[in-house]
Amino acid sequence: MNGDGPRDKALWLTAPSDAAWRLAPGQVHLWRASLDLPPEQTRALTRFLSPDERERANRFVVRSARDRYTTARAVLRNILARYVSEAPAELRFGYAEHGKPHLAHPHTSIRFNVSHSHDLAVYALTSDQSVGVDVEYLYRRKIVDRLRIAYRFFSDREYNTLAAMPPYRRDRAFLACWTRKEAFVKAIGQGLTCPLDQFDVTVDPNGPAELLATRWDVYYAQRWTMTNIDPGPDYIGALAVENRDVRLFFRQWDHGQFE
Ligand SMILES: CC(C)(COP(=O)(O)OP(=O)(O)OC[C@H]1O[C@@H](n2cnc3c(N)ncnc32)[C@H](O)[C@@H]1OP(=O)(O)O)[C@@H](O)C(=O)NCCC(=O)NCCS
Repeated sequence: MNGDGPRDKALWLTAPSDAAWRLAPGQVHLWRASLDLPPEQTRALTRFLSPDERERANRFVVRSARDRYTTARAVLRNILARYVSEAPAELRFGYAEHGKPHLAHPHTSIRFNVSHSHDLAVYALTSDQSVGVDVEYLYRRKIVDRLRIAYRFFSDREYNTLAAMPPYRRDRAFLACWTRKEAFVKAIGQGLTCPLDQFDVTVDPNGPAELLATRWDVYYAQRWTMTNIDPGPDYIGALAVENRDVRLFFRQWDHGQFE
């Protein structure tokens, strides 16, 4: 695997060239965006949203959640629009059985996935490969008993690895395992409807991310690349792509790029 930078040491480039908007086979373009915008700027971004997206935004009771959703969708539309040469507000999305969005555009092979946490969003784009991404803000909430949650939801192998770690290492290891698992279940479109104990990932946050095995097919895991991504100092993240040979490119969305 190669691309913009060495594995796990993301360098998020601003001001990309025109080549940034073309996806070659095997490439994964990761875009990072801040969701922290002044309210008046966020309000202006609703011009990019479809009526159903505006309706969804209005259902958020907490304003910050509504604003972050609006910004995340506006950025998504602006990024995708450049790849498919359309106006951001004209893009149409379809939704798979468990809610995974895709571009309802007749002539595109672009697949994407999005994750947002706190005031950051990460977008992963590929050409024709299943892709999933997950980021978590490290200080979102203090989950007191990580081990109990791992016992309930993770596989035996993951739980045992976590339990064998000294307690001071468990918080980060739990989140590393969690983001790797979520990236995978988002890539296959099942989200949390997929039983999380039916596959194993690596747990050590300082080691490589890897899909080790799935219960449903002994060869299935071999088709996948999983990697840590470094979204920034207060975040942890992971990416899953159904392809062994991938090249990663890291891009920073600049809000001056809105159409
Ligand atoms: C997908 C899921 C794991 C998201 O987890 P999360 O950590 O809260 O949120 P993230 O920020 O990482 O990801 C959210 C994004 O994932 C995408 N997404 C939604 N459903 C998805 C799915 N089934 N698979 C992959 N991606 C999905 C969307 O782009 C969403 O962004 P949006 O909220 O701005 O529309 C969780 O919502 C889930 O399990 N959903 C499926 C369960 C289901 O069937 N729900 C019924 C809705 S039809």
